[in-house]
Amino acid sequence: PLTATVNQQDHLEIGGCDVVDLVQKFGSPLYILDEATLRSACRQYRDAFIRYYPGASQVLYASKAWNCLAVCAIVASEGLGIDIVSGGELYTALQAGVDPTKLYLHGNNKARAELLMAVEAGCTIVVDNWHELKTLVAIAAEQVRSEERGERSQESELTQNLSHTAPPTRIMLRLTPGIECHTHDYIRTGSIDSKFGFGLDQLDEVFQFISQQPSLMCIGLHAHIGSQIFELEPHHDLGAVMVQWLSKAMHHGLPIQELDIGGGLGIRYTESDDPPSIEAWVKVVSESIGAACKAQNLPLPKLLSEPGRSLIGSACVTAYTIGGQKTIPNIRTYVTVDGGMSDNPRPITYQSVYRAVVANRMSAPLTEAVAIAGKHCESGDIVIKEAALPTTQPNDLLVVMATGAYNYSMASNYNRIARPAAVLVQEGEASIILQRETYQDLLRQDRLPERLK
Ligand code: LLP
Repeated sequence: PLTATVNQQDHLEIGGCDVVDLVQKFGSPLYILDEATLRSACRQYRDAFIRYYPGASQVLYASKAWNCLAVCAIVASEGLGIDIVSGGELYTALQAGVDPTKLYLHGNNKARAELLMAVEAGCTIVVDNWHELKTLVAIAAEQVRSEERGERSQESELTQNLSHTAPPTRIMLRLTPGIECHTHDYIRTGSIDSKFGFGLDQLDEVFQFISQQPSLMCIGLHAHIGSQIFELEPHHDLGAVMVQWLSKAMHHGLPIQELDIGGGLGIRYTESDDPPSIEAWVKVVSESIGAACKAQNLPLPKLLSEPGRSLIGSACVTAYTIGGQKTIPNIRTYVTVDGGMSDNPRPITYQSVYRAVVANRMSAPLTEAVAIAGKHCESGDIVIKEAALPTTQPNDLLVVMATGAYNYSMASNYNRIARPAAVLVQEGEASIILQRETYQDLLRQDRLPERLK
């Protein structure tokens, strides 16, 4: 959990920085990311795998939770690899200096250009379907031809490529394991009826096909069953299913050495949430895979995992400035803030629940349950339906906790609202990691045809 304290002015302090000062200096709304909390979560994962898994392991950060230069650089410096899902996430990770061999490209409809960029950079591709498999074979054939002609592609300049001896492309296969878990329908991915991955009934044919492709080297299997999961059983069951398919892949002669069991561990958003610890999760997946391998007499694969939310979710808060209030007698009071669904689309998308504090009077007694309303032109733009707060006034600072995952990364410019800045705090120092967008930024891609001028 976040290392937050209350200082002598009764203000919330994060990473040794007074949140009221941060907003004065960097403006509102503001994402505040605590470096120590993020690093500590990285280490908890890493250390738990070392403790509970006797084989090799590698934690990948699922950067869809929050992908930007600084976050990529921090997790990479902790020894993590990165799960990327688009050319944009790949480009950012490369620009942050992340070792391309520790990048894994996911996605159920990767564009050919994205695949090419990742192959040339030397990333591992987590193949989702037949179409992609065939595109990769075609890319390899095309590469061989262009090498013969002595050409280089535009993408390879971009990714500062590397050798042109065209080693086989490292791939993993994404499976749909048929495992159910209790979470929101939109973020459940492991059940049979999912757009992601190969169904188990397709796998024999896929293994067969790959074993005949010299340009592809299938090094592993991958599955991800969903997000914000509080139970441990689904991941336990997933371990057993994956080892079963690992053994089949080996029988097809594939050089499988890695199993990637995805991410999905939930975090605490409110007091009533009680997720398992990172350690408990790692213990369960490690033991499940260890036991299944032992039962089938298989060597231990390298065990990969890709947590996103549980690495960065608790490490960030969003500070907003309170505006006016509206009280509807006997119904409720709306307290408005200067952001909302454009910087945190999770409440309106998944009915997610958050907790908030008033950062400039931390010890004031809680007096009312109010609705925190965003500023966007939609009735559904409610940040928190029922927040227990002290009595507030305009210009008080409302801080919403645990906004590190899927807030900035899903932010939009709805209502032409500029995205907030993000600061990284550590030992009393604050550094900008994302500039606040300006009106000029909003117009950067706009073009006015001559005849409309
Ligand atoms: N690996 C794969 C292949 C994934 O699809 C995901 C998340 C993860 C790893 C990381 O899962 P995590 O550890 O963060 O639960 N926007 C939604 C969450 C979507 C998750 C998509 N995939 C939300 O705000 O709740």
